[in-house]
Amino acid sequence: MTASTATETGAAIVKLEDVHLSFGQTEVLKGIDLTINKGDAVSIIGPSGSGKSTILRCINALVTPQSGKITVAGTRVDQLTKESERIQLRKRVGIVFQQYNLFPHLTVLDNIVLAPTKILGADRTATVKLARELLEKVRLSEKADAYPGQLSGGQQQRVAIARALAMKPELVLFDEVTSALDPETVGEVLWVIRDLIRDGMTSILVTHEMRFAEEISDTVVFTENGRIVDHGSPQQIFHTTDNPRIRQFVGGLSGGGRGAVRDGEGI
Ligand SMILES: Nc1ncnc2c1ncn2[C@@H]1O[C@H](COP(=O)(O)OP(=O)(O)OP(=O)(O)O)[C@@H](O)[C@H]1O
Ligand SMILES: [Mg+2]
Repeated sequence: MTASTATETGAAIVKLEDVHLSFGQTEVLKGIDLTINKGDAVSIIGPSGSGKSTILRCINALVTPQSGKITVAGTRVDQLTKESERIQLRKRVGIVFQQYNLFPHLTVLDNIVLAPTKILGADRTATVKLARELLEKVRLSEKADAYPGQLSGGQQQRVAIARALAMKPELVLFDEVTSALDPETVGEVLWVIRDLIRDGMTSILVTHEMRFAEEISDTVVFTENGRIVDHGSPQQIFHTTDNPRIRQFVGGLSGGGRGAVRDGEGI
């Protein structure tokens, strides 16, 4: 099954074709087909253990499938053999995790400047300027000289997003980036992601924020037990699907379950 929002295959930036992946004896991905076009926002939803994070990790060459093709921005990711080639790919594909993993001994600004200057060899002055622009974008200009330990979880996560953007990625993967946050800081992180998507950043989000996924996604993909069970517009997946499993899952979460966006959070 292919999740695609454009008719032109030439516009595909991510393509997974019949991807199978096992960890030892455990088959985790059982034939994933997924096409994502440049500029799209795609949400992946589904129960715990269904393979959502593993799909993102495949796209970013953090794990390699046993079979199937993965093409990301023209690179055959499944055929990369050297770590140096994987690092090249990761320069172009940002990933933000639930845990922000900022360097505690570096200021916010230096956390953002580090990778572009060290890994890309970018000019420090230009990168500092970019970092300040990104801090403005994530609404944290006043925290440039603070240390991560002085920030709230939501603020740290916004720094982590700015850090990913500083590499000027061609697409960004978000893996449950609000799941570890206090409810009152979830909204500020979602604001930032919404802005990015509106700016046209190609984004793949694994999320439990159903209302947010409904609002910002071009396509929603539902995974279960290592397979894409269905995909479609938010309207289809959240409202008109006749798949009882999806209805149950979506209904359960939007009824106030784990991570569901709550009313009155101003997002
Ligand atoms: N490195 C690993 N070694 C062994 N098994 C793994 C590894 N990573 C993931 N798995 C297993 O693969 C399956 C899919 O995991 P994955 O993390 O992709 O699920 P998920 O849909 O992201 O779940 P969650 O919503 O809980 O984050 C799970 O059964 C998990 O235990
Ligand atoms: Mg996961």
